[in-house]
Amino acid sequence: MRTVDLIQKKRDGHELTTDEINWLISGYAEGSVPDYQMAAFAMAIYFRGMSTREISDLTMAMVASGEEIDLSAISGIKVDKHSTGGVGDKVTLILAPLVASFGIPVAKMSGRGLGHTGGTLDKLESIKGYQIEVTQDQFIKQVQDIGVSVIGQSDNMVKADKLLYALRDVTATVDIIPLIASSVMSKKIAAGADAILLDVTVGEGAFMKNIEDARQLAQTMVELGKAVGRKTIAVITDMSQPVGTSIGNRLEILEALEILQGKGREDVTEFICELAQIMLGLADVEKTVDEVRAHLLDGSALQKFEEMVAAQGGDLEDLYRAVRVSHQVPVLAQASGYIEALPALEFGLFAMKLGAGRAVKTDSLDYETGIVFHKKVGEAVEAGQKIATIYANENISENMLTNFQKNVKIGNVSVKTKEIIEIVS
Ligand code: URA
Repeated sequence: MRTVDLIQKKRDGHELTTDEINWLISGYAEGSVPDYQMAAFAMAIYFRGMSTREISDLTMAMVASGEEIDLSAISGIKVDKHSTGGVGDKVTLILAPLVASFGIPVAKMSGRGLGHTGGTLDKLESIKGYQIEVTQDQFIKQVQDIGVSVIGQSDNMVKADKLLYALRDVTATVDIIPLIASSVMSKKIAAGADAILLDVTVGEGAFMKNIEDARQLAQTMVELGKAVGRKTIAVITDMSQPVGTSIGNRLEILEALEILQGKGREDVTEFICELAQIMLGLADVEKTVDEVRAHLLDGSALQKFEEMVAAQGGDLEDLYRAVRVSHQVPVLAQASGYIEALPALEFGLFAMKLGAGRAVKTDSLDYETGIVFHKKVGEAVEAGQKIATIYANENISENMLTNFQKNVKIGNVSVKTKEIIEIVS
């Protein structure tokens, strides 16, 4: 086989065979297919798409490009969760210990963020001492002992996805369903859980900008999971505004702690309890949302989180400290009315410029910086009222402040918002 012929075949709109896909992906993982040819192939997929069978072959070829994690030593149904990405997305930080507090083991491998804001790992690493790199044996032992662990993805897993994702990021080929579906599901399948909850984000701050595309991505991934015997459910969730009130690594840890103590905003708390209910259902544990919420109110979810932090070397005193920044800049409403929009992407990029996210993979982060919103979409504001606080380690220029204010859309109607838009199973 020759790579150029396979690129041409896809470019001209034909289906590739299973053997052809296996050959290409294993060659890429081993280094015999160079980046420039893979980039051309990704772009051909971007324009020509892939059949369901091709997406499934691509996914399994990526799984086969690295090691698969064996979680069988952990008893019970292991449930995993994955989000297709969002701004201010601290859901895993709360969901993992919350589900574990019901005795359901959560062995989760997470990623770092690229673009907009940090990923779950970056947030956890903002806690002094928290180790995200542990051996597989330690990972499994921790889940056996305390029921929960969130670590970095093993370097040996889905090698092809690691290479391809970095390539897609710089060749404008990220936001395409066959490549997102195979990237997410190869990681989930290789990570070894029995059941998977997928959070498919939709809206201005997500890869999927409209509900039709989000639905198609969700259905594709659910089918991929089921085809390999993993119970899989997707929830399509709103990413038109940031999740919760904060963006930024330490700030999101602090918000997660508030939610874990039952003191978080009602909307985000309810949303996370609903996700937990679905995850528990995947493990055959039927609970009402109120029963789930009880574990936030009685401290059992928080206790699991603290146990996880301590087990992974995190300093529990540091966990609760306030952010350390040189500037806290209030942002005041420019008019009276209702918040109509808080465009997630714009604020994600704003937080990135403060150091909370990476523009390129090698950028280092400032864990302390970010934004806290005091008002969210649908809420009333008075002109001059504080709507957000910027946490920065540099001076915020008038220009930056004006830009921030311009992105806070204030109108005359109170828009209704809904976190979970649809469930695909
Ligand atoms: N998340 C992933 O893991 N892969 C993608 O392609 C997009 C989001």
